[in-house]
Amino acid sequence: MRKITIVGAGRVGETTAQILAEKELCREIALYDIREDVPEGVALDICQTAPFFEFDCSLSGSNDPQIMRGSELLVVTAGLPRKPGMSRSDVLEANVRVIDEVVDQAMRYCPEAMILMVTNPVDTLTYRAFQRSGWPRERVFGQAGVLDASRMASFISHETGFSVRDITTIVLGGHGDTMVPVPRYCTINGIPITHFLSAERIEAINERTRKGGAEILALRKNSSAYDAPGAAVAAMVDAIVNNRRRILPCVAILEGEYGEADIAMGVPCVLSDHGLESVVEIDLNTEERAAFDASAAAVREDIGRLKDIV
Ligand code: 2OP
Repeated sequence: MRKITIVGAGRVGETTAQILAEKELCREIALYDIREDVPEGVALDICQTAPFFEFDCSLSGSNDPQIMRGSELLVVTAGLPRKPGMSRSDVLEANVRVIDEVVDQAMRYCPEAMILMVTNPVDTLTYRAFQRSGWPRERVFGQAGVLDASRMASFISHETGFSVRDITTIVLGGHGDTMVPVPRYCTINGIPITHFLSAERIEAINERTRKGGAEILALRKNSSAYDAPGAAVAAMVDAIVNNRRRILPCVAILEGEYGEADIAMGVPCVLSDHGLESVVEIDLNTEERAAFDASAAAVREDIGRLKDIV
């Protein structure tokens, strides 16, 4: 991929830019932010790590949205972060306005690009970007499940002492307290986690996963998580840029899959150089289905609020 623009040079944007550059996932990274001088400063700082990490990717920053021109992918991290005690939905109103403007600029300056939404509430804002742009769902999707699944994998690794490399996890639904970790599909090198962990321990891991973002926010106090979110975005970008056809949980616009339509939420997807190539439907048992439905209802509640925001 030639050029990726990261919208928002805050902590998630900066971490993402650093990882994309280190991994040389594109030739050029642009950072766009409305804060004066900040995107230039972030770009310059990351450029100066190049001799250590030996990358040739160029970085630039600007307050001018025209910096998006020629981008094949926009990673959208701009917006208000939540503060301790707030839910992701509490920043919806402020962030819809930010995202509307970003989508309008994307339509103007890079109409063929893909949008990878990261800003919260990510499900609702992915839906908003899809609606406002009119672009196909292959080109408008969001990051959440990759992060949530990595949190779950790290908790399983801590609990069992086994290498995180062998742990496969999956988390579905909206990126909020109703998200749906699916331990039935979680394995350690193909062995179901139930072989190693009691039902009680698994439920504790599920709960910690659901509250994973809030746990870090409460500890950091003045910032949400950004290291793992940046790495999660980079994993998605890597799958797209290298046409890996990885199956990763992403925020996708559903068009009948899982019995849902006109909604964006977390489901397993195939990521390739076409973007979100397809949604993978997995069987859910009664309990998992009920949790998925409850999560869809929570996302729908936020989506319902969109019509009151002008
Ligand atoms: C998280 O889960 C901020 O939503 C992000 O950490």
